[in-house]
Amino acid sequence: MCGIVGYIGNKNATDIIYDGLKKLEYRGYDSAGIAVIDHNIVKTNRSTGKLVNLKANLEKNPIAGNIGIGHTRWATHGKPSEENAHPHTDCSGKIVVVHNGIIENYISLKKQLVEEGHKFDSETDTEVVAHLIEKNYHGNILEATKKALKQVRGTYALAVICGEEPDKIIVSRNDAPLVIGVGENENFIASDVPALLAYVRDVIFLENGDICEITKNGVKITNQDKLIERKTQKILWNAIQAEKGGYKHFMLKEIYEQPQSIQDTFRGRVFSDQKQILLEIKNITKEVLNKISRIYIIACGTSYHAGLTAKFLLEEFVQIPTEVDIASEFRYRNQVLDKNSLAIFISQSGETADTLVALRLAKQKGAKTLAICNVIGSSISRDADDVVYTHCGPEIGVASTKAFTGQVMALLLLVFDFAVKKGTITEEQLDNYIKQIWNLPSKVSECLKQADKIEKIAKIFSQTKQFIYLARNINYPIALEGALKLKEISYIYAEGYAAGEMKHGPIALIDENMPVMVIATKSRIYEKIISNIQEAKARGANIIAIVNENDTAVTKLSDYQIVVPEVDEIFSPIINVIPLQLFAYYVSTMRGCDVDQPRNLAKSVTVE
Ligand code: AGP
Repeated sequence: MCGIVGYIGNKNATDIIYDGLKKLEYRGYDSAGIAVIDHNIVKTNRSTGKLVNLKANLEKNPIAGNIGIGHTRWATHGKPSEENAHPHTDCSGKIVVVHNGIIENYISLKKQLVEEGHKFDSETDTEVVAHLIEKNYHGNILEATKKALKQVRGTYALAVICGEEPDKIIVSRNDAPLVIGVGENENFIASDVPALLAYVRDVIFLENGDICEITKNGVKITNQDKLIERKTQKILWNAIQAEKGGYKHFMLKEIYEQPQSIQDTFRGRVFSDQKQILLEIKNITKEVLNKISRIYIIACGTSYHAGLTAKFLLEEFVQIPTEVDIASEFRYRNQVLDKNSLAIFISQSGETADTLVALRLAKQKGAKTLAICNVIGSSISRDADDVVYTHCGPEIGVASTKAFTGQVMALLLLVFDFAVKKGTITEEQLDNYIKQIWNLPSKVSECLKQADKIEKIAKIFSQTKQFIYLARNINYPIALEGALKLKEISYIYAEGYAAGEMKHGPIALIDENMPVMVIATKSRIYEKIISNIQEAKARGANIIAIVNENDTAVTKLSDYQIVVPEVDEIFSPIINVIPLQLFAYYVSTMRGCDVDQPRNLAKSVTVE
């Protein structure tokens, strides 16, 4: 995720901003920059890569001033490069912006601005805002920013400075965090608290729609053109706690980020008023897709589980035979792919060695290739013919959570995109699904409200030696994913199984010492899963069931229930995985395991 830091006061802004950006490094980034105003002159310094590169640039070309803004960029639109690094300026170079978020309508805005003669230096969505402010600037940077934002659709934490008005920073937020640090004759801004803790403890967390004018002696906040007061809060966290946003572990923070990361993944790609999906796919056109006879999905670990959900969706909606493969197996078989094959590679890091080699082998066989990645500019995203990014922000915890639900979300969008291209989905169906997609973040938030109950159940099972996870159909991959979560962070042996497969052997494992987690939300196989629960119950298993509200049949049969909101079953993997993530997290912490850095594991397996 991008990081923003700003300062206005009597000290040198450059040093304060640089130090603040260093405190935001954990958010992940691929370029950085700072702009200051020095006697009405805007001075900017940017670099790709890590902040040390920016520091080297600043030593060669120092900039100083009492007001400035800085940024670490996590690329979303436009590759990591100096040109795409923030801050961005307007044509005059006097108006400077830094931004975190996604400007959904930047393409149409940019087209109009270019037609009006504006010259752009970058591929970013952010630069559009600088020119939009310029277009509306008539001597008042606050008013110009307000007018510009009225034309913008999307998410933003935005900071603006102007060479003509060097006594103020303008900031605004919509669905991306921004906090003001309140000092004595100086004020600070940042995307997140860690950047401020060395200087202030009194902060103001901005709300959506707030537009503020910040001088060194004051903060003026408006919302919908009305002057408003926001309370100042005192931060008691230490620096480490602050990086985790007050959560005990990055994994827990990332579990709770999922309503936002899922929304960030579909925002700008589905519109409730338009029956279409907008994905950045250039090469897999309708014509190409109509020649595809088979789809191969190749990945590792959690990403492989996301791929298994896509198999159901592709065969359900696009009717192209689909097979899913573990990359380390795929790469050592005789891959029977050809130019009529589409190979989809799923990877959070975009650097997993087995998946990268599998991609290159598929290309050698002439297959069309598409990547689902979370890291812009990663090897897998660069080598594939097309890429659909999950906009989850950096995932620090080794156990993947928000990246998984982001992958499933991105795959759902891909399936609908293909179905539109193949004509295998009606407008009415698509419209209905798009409406449900917009409700998913709030449904995920409802799941997160079960955390206390899940923690209590986890306590009961925290010392168990083994676990079986059961599910069927589109939730079978979620049983595998839930078991993997428990295995990798609590070191308990856990097995995910297709519930219908139990009677072919694994049921011999069931007795009162084998707890069973079963996904039993409403679906076309609901009655079948009830039979499977009865089979396990009859052999003495302790059963935890994931159920929908008002469920009776499964509730009667199971020992513990975790209630999740009912959604169309094609969306149920995103909902049903949430309690399994929390369950694994709580069991792990109760066993004193290292949740964020489990033993023997790496976040990105870049070796065979
Ligand atoms: C997931 O919790 C694991 N950390 C691991 O299985 C991971 O999903 C796998 O290594 C694939 O990583 P990738 O998505 O970055 O390719």
